[in-house]
Amino acid sequence: MQRTLFATGGAGFIGSEFLRQAIDGYDRVVVVDSLLPQVHATPPIMPDGVELVVGDVAEESTWAPLVEVLRALPDLDVLHLAAETGTGQSLTEPSRHALANVVGTTRLTEALDGAGVRPRRVVLASSRAVYGEGAWVLHGEMRYPGQRSAAQLERSEWDPPGAEPVAMRADQVMPNPVSAYGATKLAQEHLLAAWAVAHEVPLTVLRLQNVYGAGQSLTNSYTGILPLFCRMAREGKAIPLYEDGLVRRDFVHVNDVVSAIRRAFEIDRQEVQTLDVGSGTYQTVREVADHIARAYGAPPPVVTGAFRHGDVRHAWADTSVTEAELGWRPLVSIDVGLGELIAWVDGTLGEPAPSV
Ligand SMILES: NC(=O)c1ccc[n+]([C@@H]2O[C@H](COP(=O)([O-])OP(=O)(O)OC[C@H]3O[C@@H](n4cnc5c(N)ncnc54)[C@H](O)[C@@H]3O)[C@@H](O)[C@H]2O)c1
Repeated sequence: MQRTLFATGGAGFIGSEFLRQAIDGYDRVVVVDSLLPQVHATPPIMPDGVELVVGDVAEESTWAPLVEVLRALPDLDVLHLAAETGTGQSLTEPSRHALANVVGTTRLTEALDGAGVRPRRVVLASSRAVYGEGAWVLHGEMRYPGQRSAAQLERSEWDPPGAEPVAMRADQVMPNPVSAYGATKLAQEHLLAAWAVAHEVPLTVLRLQNVYGAGQSLTNSYTGILPLFCRMAREGKAIPLYEDGLVRRDFVHVNDVVSAIRRAFEIDRQEVQTLDVGSGTYQTVREVADHIARAYGAPPPVVTGAFRHGDVRHAWADTSVTEAELGWRPLVSIDVGLGELIAWVDGTLGEPAPSV
């Protein structure tokens, strides 16, 4: 039987790696991507055989010709990746994020309806940003302190006093976004779930933590702190650390994300399922910055005490449910992943100038 894939945002970081690894499993692959200049400084290199349609998913005109294409795709997997992804940027450009992420999602379901297509499965790349500051345990009880106020941040009051953060797990921690980006990713989840249940289409929502690896945009200064840190350290600069440098993040290698998406398409679950994809552990931003600075012989990172609204204090995933449900587990350690990232950055930008 023929199997086909339709991927929105498939020319991006995660999409291109997924296509490279999974394309052999499909008879036909169609990608729609606007090739956002902020992400794509140069035209993307797509694997042979991928049909790339350049267009904005929020624009009705993009979808008119795609409805016919969708109609001709039997046994269809849909991977929804297209999104504006700048957390901080989304506070100053919320309409841009809402159009791409929210309207882009409703246009997708309208096009599937217009084509009369019921996909075999839809997988949405959602984000840990839907949790916002997440849950914290205070006096033995789970609490949601919510967004940190400007006054709290100005007082350098980074953590809720006396509270301990909890790992993010969809069945235990409620979403509570604190950025326009997070709110639009949660809207994507709700919009697709409402449509999927009504049409009996299986949907897997994967809430991704901080994805990193070769192929990540080196020019998009709004996302992906690790390539940014590599670029600074290469130039012999001290990496500036926000807050007190002790912000926790779950850095998950793109290969582990690709294998989770592939497993999501393979399993036989019928209902809507929401799962967390991360390395299952965390590093402080200071730890990864130290690692990168050492690798380049750059000066040690500097705690600046600066902060950015929309950035959350701590984020990492409890992947136990995902591991059980998908028969998957993250395999790339941060040491191996960072070594590979640094080698790729140097291979792409050229060897850094020797430090004097
Ligand atoms: N990379 C991460 O750390 C991370 C973490 C959590 C969630 N995610 C989610 O994973 C998905 C893919 O992220 P990525 O890291 O590959 O990002 P990316 O920016 O590399 O890829 C996104 C792709 O979508 C395209 N795009 C953006 N707006 C579009 C529009 N309006 N119409 C058509 N195409 C559009 C871009 O050109 C790009 O090729 C996103 O939905 C993002 O929210 C990523």
